[in-house]
Amino acid sequence: MRRILIHTLILLLAAGFGQAAEKDAEGVRLAGQVREIFVAKCVDCHGPNLPRPKGKFGYVLDLKRVAANPDYVVHRQPALSELYKMIRDDDMPGEDAKVPALTPAEKETVRRWIELGAPEPAATTQPTKLVASPVAPMDPKTAPPTSKKLLRWIGRFHPVSTHFPVALMLVAVLAEGLAWWTRRESWQQTVRFLVIVAALGAVATGVLGWINASFTSYVGQNATILTWHRWLGTATAVWALVCAALAVMDECREGTPARQRFRGALLAGAALVSITGFLGSALIYGLDHYALW
Ligand code: HEC
Repeated sequence: MRRILIHTLILLLAAGFGQAAEKDAEGVRLAGQVREIFVAKCVDCHGPNLPRPKGKFGYVLDLKRVAANPDYVVHRQPALSELYKMIRDDDMPGEDAKVPALTPAEKETVRRWIELGAPEPAATTQPTKLVASPVAPMDPKTAPPTSKKLLRWIGRFHPVSTHFPVALMLVAVLAEGLAWWTRRESWQQTVRFLVIVAALGAVATGVLGWINASFTSYVGQNATILTWHRWLGTATAVWALVCAALAVMDECREGTPARQRFRGALLAGAALVSITGFLGSALIYGLDHYALW
């Protein structure tokens, strides 16, 4: 009796190990396929040979590093893994990519690969080419509707529009300094003009920013930067309107408390717009893009 039990146990264990080995082999095989899918559909924007990869994510082919980043892959949990969710929902490669979305079979390959613990591919399966192979143009049925394309295009003007509120608020501070220094009414008029245009620019930029952000899919640290950028930017637009209102409402003469109040508001606005601008560029170039070395 005892012997039978021991034998059964050994058999069960062996079956268990056998199954595990099979799964390992499946994982490694899928990893090779995942890498090929990424070569075909992601390297244009996240390849290792790009000087400035999109979303600051330039190692899509380094599956070990991808799997080790919990912002992208949650161990054995495809449904919680941002990387899988992005390709499942066709957020990546994205509607503006030259390559079509992943096919259902490709999505399933990536899903299963993550489910099996996102192992590395075998060394022999590493493809040598790093250029996405030419693919058929997108099926017009799956292409996004024109209104969506138009909205996406409008959102693209966000980065360029930001220069208006940034420069105008900072120049307004300069003009306000000159107004204080020279005590000339003409400088005060200049300040008023600059602040009003800055406020209009800030509102337009904010609206474009919300549109632009609706087409992005950042995760992890980038997502945190985007949240701060978004809300500080919104606060900047509101604050710029407050500054404009103060500049118009109070017939502020130099030395009056109203002028000082306006000056404080303007300085706060200039600080807000600068921080927001920095965070916006950090989304593209990284938080350390002003580092000297
Ligand atoms: C046409 C260019 C393009 C292609 C192709 C593309 N992406 Fe992206 N990807 C982007 C951009 C741009 C971002 C930055 C966020 C945004 O704008 O949505 C991004 C962001 C990401 C991020 C988040 C990076 C971060 O840390 O915030 C992941 C993950 C990602 N892409 C995965 C993929 C995968 C996987 C593929 C291939 C299936 C792919 N992408 C194909 C343009 C692309």
